[in-house]
Amino acid sequence: MGVVISMVDYRINSPLDDAALNNLFARAWHDHAEREWAPVLAHSLGVVAAFASDQLIGFVNVATDGGEHAFLLDPTVDVAHRRRGIGTQLVRRAAALARERGCKWLHVDYEPALAPFYRAAGFRDSLAGVMRLDATT
Ligand SMILES: CC(C)(COP(=O)(O)OP(=O)(O)OC[C@H]1O[C@@H](n2cnc3c(N)ncnc32)[C@H](O)[C@@H]1OP(=O)(O)O)[C@@H](O)C(=O)NCCC(=O)NCCS
Repeated sequence: MGVVISMVDYRINSPLDDAALNNLFARAWHDHAEREWAPVLAHSLGVVAAFASDQLIGFVNVATDGGEHAFLLDPTVDVAHRRRGIGTQLVRRAAALARERGCKWLHVDYEPALAPFYRAAGFRDSLAGVMRLDATT
């Protein structure tokens, strides 16, 4: 029997409940802790979600400063669906969404190992900094 590859449906600002998001994040992030998403999404410019057979398999959140800048947050693809271009599609659609909403710059930060993913998705290298605020070291 061959491998069945389901169609992926990308939706902008689709309603997403806590159970679906926490389930996806628990499968994708080893340190994920269950959380309520409404306070996060309340600050969102928009989200792009990927579904296969109506199951949430990918997500990215776009936040904004309300001006020219948008920030790509939490790009996530279910482990069972990686390396099929879904992450790239999520990022490209997030960039289009931010552009449509009047933003001129899309920012992201990431671990060095993911540089090939972000370069392939259209980002160019830029020096940036990040500070952890909930730790003393
Ligand atoms: C990062 C992530 C979203 C990528 O999703 P994906 O759907 O697998 O990515 P794509 O299939 O679009 O990858 C496109 C290309 O990016 C590169 N790439 C993807 N994942 C990579 C990884 N983990 N390491 C290095 N390069 C990677 C490859 O060049 C890949 O092309 P190839 O498959 O032909 O080699 C997914 O691995 C994920 O959810 N990771 C856990 C959460 C996370 O770390 N998110 C990013 C936070 S900054």
